[in-house]
Amino acid sequence: MINAMSYVVVQTPYLAQWLDMAGSHIGLQVECMQPDACARLRMDEKVQRLLVCAADSMALTMGYEVPAAADLPRVQQALEAAGYPTTAGTEEEKRLRGVIDFFHFRDPDGNRIEVAWNLQSAATPFQPGRPIGGFRTGELGIGHVALMTAHFERMCHLYKEVLGFRVSDRASAPFKVEFLHVNPRHHTIGIADTGTGAGIYHLMLEYNDFDDVGRAYDMALEKPECIGVTLGRHINDHVTSFYLKNPDGWMFELGWAGRTIGPDWQVEELPGMSLWGHDRTWLPPEKRAEARRILRRLADSGLRAPVVTHTQTAKAKQ
Ligand SMILES: [Fe+2]
Repeated sequence: MINAMSYVVVQTPYLAQWLDMAGSHIGLQVECMQPDACARLRMDEKVQRLLVCAADSMALTMGYEVPAAADLPRVQQALEAAGYPTTAGTEEEKRLRGVIDFFHFRDPDGNRIEVAWNLQSAATPFQPGRPIGGFRTGELGIGHVALMTAHFERMCHLYKEVLGFRVSDRASAPFKVEFLHVNPRHHTIGIADTGTGAGIYHLMLEYNDFDDVGRAYDMALEKPECIGVTLGRHINDHVTSFYLKNPDGWMFELGWAGRTIGPDWQVEELPGMSLWGHDRTWLPPEKRAEARRILRRLADSGLRAPVVTHTQTAKAKQ
C-alpha cells in the first residue's frame, strides 16, 4: 500500500538557522514560500522533500506515499479499523506540500503521520544549495527515519500489520530496535525502544557521491559540537555516514551507498549497529565503552561488507 517516504514536514522555532544549514551545509535547495514562516527544501525534481515551517516548538511529520489515488481510502479504512482516527488535509496544506491529496493521523507516540498521493514535480530543475552530485531518491523515497518510541509493540504493530511495512532486521542490544522497509531501500523506518521515551533520533539523506559526505563532514568539523555521531559504516544498510545535529537537536544522517534488498531478503539479528566508526558522542560513557567493545569484537571477527554504488556521478564526469 505505502511505497516510500516521500517527504517530511519540519516544525521548528529556529527557521533561519535551519535554512542556513539545509542550503549551505547539506546542499538542499531552499525555496522560500512565506518569508519567516515557511520554506520548501528540494532534493530532486519534486517540488519539495522537506517542508520547513516556523513554530513555537519542534516536531517532525513523516509523509508516506501511496502509488495510486485508490490506495488512499484503502489505507485510511485500515487505519480507522485499527483505531486510528484520520483527518483529510486542507487545500492550503495540499498546496504547500505540492500533493494532489493526503490525510493525516497520529501514531501511538503522538507523531503526526501523513499519507499522500502524487507529490508534484517542479517546473524548474533541481539546483543544490552548494555544488554536490545530488541525492539518491526516486523509488527509494527520500531516505529513512529513526524514531525512539515509548510504545514499541504498538508502533511495530501499526507499521507492520496496518501499514504493510516489512521487517529488514532487528537488534536487541544495547536496546531493542526494528528496521522496516517498503521498497528496495534497506529500511525506511527504524523503531527503537531506548527507554528514554518518544523522540526523533535521525533522518537519513543519501548523497549520490561519497565526496559529498566527506565535504559535509569537513564543514561539520569546523563546529565539532554539531557532530552527533562520527564517520562510520552501518552493519545493516551498509551506509557510510556521519550524523549532524540540526538546530532542533535531533540529527541528519548524511550517508552514501545504501544497500538495496529484494524479495529474497532474510531477516537477521544484528551483531552490532556499525562495522566501524559511528562513535555516538551523546551516549553515556558506559554505553560508549560498550559500543567500542562491540566494534573491537567485529574487527577481530574480520566482518566486512562490499560497497555497491549505483549513482556515483563523479565517474560520469571523468
Ligand atoms: Fe540511519
